[in-house]
Amino acid sequence: MQNNIVIIGTQWGDEGKGKIVDWLTESAKAVVRFQGGHNAGHTLVINGRKTVLHLLPSGILHAGVQCLIGNGVVVSPEALLKEIGELELLGINVRNHLSISEACTLILPYHVRMDQAREAKKGTAKIGTTGRGIGPSYEDKVARRAIRIQDLFDQTIFANKLKENLEYYNFLFEHYYNVPVLDFNQICDSILTYAKDIKPLVSDISRKLFNLRKNHQKVIFEGAQGTLLDVDLGTYPYVTSSNCVAGAAATGSGISPKMIDYVLGIVKAYTTRVGSGPFPTELTNEIGEGLAQRGKEFGATTGRARRCGWFDAAALKRSIQINGVDGLCVTKLDVMDGIEEIKICVGYIRNGKKYDILPFGSDLVVKCEPIYETMPGWTDSTAGITEYAKLPTTAKNYLKRIEEIVTTPIDIISTGAERSETILINDMLFK
Ligand code: GDP
Ligand code: IMO
Ligand code: MG
Repeated sequence: MQNNIVIIGTQWGDEGKGKIVDWLTESAKAVVRFQGGHNAGHTLVINGRKTVLHLLPSGILHAGVQCLIGNGVVVSPEALLKEIGELELLGINVRNHLSISEACTLILPYHVRMDQAREAKKGTAKIGTTGRGIGPSYEDKVARRAIRIQDLFDQTIFANKLKENLEYYNFLFEHYYNVPVLDFNQICDSILTYAKDIKPLVSDISRKLFNLRKNHQKVIFEGAQGTLLDVDLGTYPYVTSSNCVAGAAATGSGISPKMIDYVLGIVKAYTTRVGSGPFPTELTNEIGEGLAQRGKEFGATTGRARRCGWFDAAALKRSIQINGVDGLCVTKLDVMDGIEEIKICVGYIRNGKKYDILPFGSDLVVKCEPIYETMPGWTDSTAGITEYAKLPTTAKNYLKRIEEIVTTPIDIISTGAERSETILINDMLFK
């Protein structure tokens, strides 16, 4: 049985997770987010209509599907209600199938100010964060001073915790970062107003998932960011502040790791990265520009241009091992149409030695010179193809070579942004 499917990004995010989660949700009972926050931007395109989700699980457009936000997610009450409101304006009922864990850590205005002040102080050495307060919020959680969703519903508890935290942050703003301090009353009043709207959504997510399991229901665990942005296993320190790997699905939603049946790794047919940090196969020439243009590589959250490069099979190998990827979904194959000669990175030279897998941490990755294999490209269009047999032979060869290098099957291929522009190879995923 493949009831609990974890879907994670195997690169630096934006692999197309949202599209695939939405598409697979057709056969699921629930979708759960387990880490990250509104730094994520997951795009769904259905009958030409584009929806970008940041905090809400990508199953939200399926009316009968439970959408859950697990304890591992950092939640900005303001961003959450804004996103719900935007969908409601489109006539989508969100609240009747959305539940949020009371154990979620909050993102409050001082986290956003801290994120931005810290980036400004770093200057050219900045991480290139989304500026949404993600890092500082996770820091508070680990420092055991975080304010959580459950604290919103007791005004005294909330006000006391806010006072203590704000004192600390305001001291740093004033004396270390030289930025304006924030006002206690303003934050307290506005957040407590949001609390009323959030309270009906709060639920025991861990228990819900346990019961869904008991009843043999299918659940999709939706990762945000990507493996190479994982705070432990990515290109540290140019990473996000959460664990984005499959293992985090358990800790971030309150299930046992034994409940994960299947891990689907999403990978683009090339590579992109937004923000700073090393990127061995980056292309700063017209081929990279072509990928950016055809792939519309602009961030779904910040609108920043994404850096583009060749497919990195040696990095994918690392991701497959870390996540225990059972099968891959290759997205954006159509963006590779029309490239005469394609390169695949199969390893690196670092300090004169050969490596066949990406090392951990930015300082080592930055020294990796890619070793490429070259393959012929294809001129026919793959855009919108929904049957494997109809793909050009050279495109099939490209996919086969990827499978061979990383010794993992490709279960799904995506040939366009539309929900329907998808090729299913392993139909067990839908059963
Ligand atoms: P996520 O963060 O992993 O959910 O990915 P994003 O939504 O940030 O970025 C993926 C972008 O590629 C979005 O604009 C999608 O609409 C688009 N997309 C997804 N799959 C495909 C595909 O197969 N082909 C093309 N051309 N675009 C795709
Ligand atoms: P989805 O879920 C791509 C990147 C930022 C920055 C670093 C740290 O859409 O794939 P943060 O604000 O998290 O502290 O920023 O991580 N980043 C993403 N890049 N896709 C994402 O999410 C990302 N979320 C964060 O650009 O380099
Ligand atoms: Mg994205």
